[in-house]
Amino acid sequence: MRKKIVAGNWKMNKTLQEGIELAKGVNDIVKKNGAKCTVVLGTPFIHLTEVVKTVDANLIKVSAENCADKASGAYTGEVSAAMVKSTGAEYVILGHSERRQYYGETDAILKEKVDLALANGLKVIFCIGEVLAEREAGKQNEVVTSQVKNALFHLSAEQFANIVLAYEPVWAIGTGKTATSEQAQDVHAVIRACVAAQYGAAVAEDTTILYGGSCKASNAKELFAQKDIDGGLIGGASLKPEDFYGIIEAYN
Ligand code: 13P
Repeated sequence: MRKKIVAGNWKMNKTLQEGIELAKGVNDIVKKNGAKCTVVLGTPFIHLTEVVKTVDANLIKVSAENCADKASGAYTGEVSAAMVKSTGAEYVILGHSERRQYYGETDAILKEKVDLALANGLKVIFCIGEVLAEREAGKQNEVVTSQVKNALFHLSAEQFANIVLAYEPVWAIGTGKTATSEQAQDVHAVIRACVAAQYGAAVAEDTTILYGGSCKASNAKELFAQKDIDGGLIGGASLKPEDFYGIIEAYN
């Protein structure tokens, strides 16, 4: 059975103190009410160490939102995969559309980041998704499969087992405009078929594919009920414990 995951992506929100408070809040509510999925908190770099210390490791996993495409050295302001790993974080989010759009991250750069993350023992939540113009042109399947192929298909099946995919249609991120469960399921099925063609049916069956984009408590249940949707990557609704738990609860 593939893993079900609900992961928060805090993006560039919360001071250190606010982040610790939020992590504590999520930990308390999960401890009290339980979770039938893996819960991950994706936080800015500076929060990682404290959030790892704040949460119960058996209840909540911690993720960075990015890492450098170089191993170490004179790259002022960058944070390496080894540094992320040394905080106790288990995951790193790579390829988020905001990184691709605003910071020029290409498939080639992402490939380097993926390799470094895996070499340092991190699991990768790898984001893919089309922009509105691509959706309107009916190109979403083509876009997501090429993103997956270009950045990931050089990996061995063994390495690929440490990849979680996250389909995030860019037009649905932070817009309140969620993909319908049918639109999301259609693309998830295409992604799984693409993984199957490269690595075989068994690997594809075991691959966790998350949905992201205006996912919230009110739509999570229907989205997560789809055959190829294995949880969510949550932005805005991960910034308050009750909102985030409302999504985790979709699996209870
Ligand atoms: P929202 O949930 O705010 O739409 O953001 C989704 C996202 O980008 C998660 O990575």
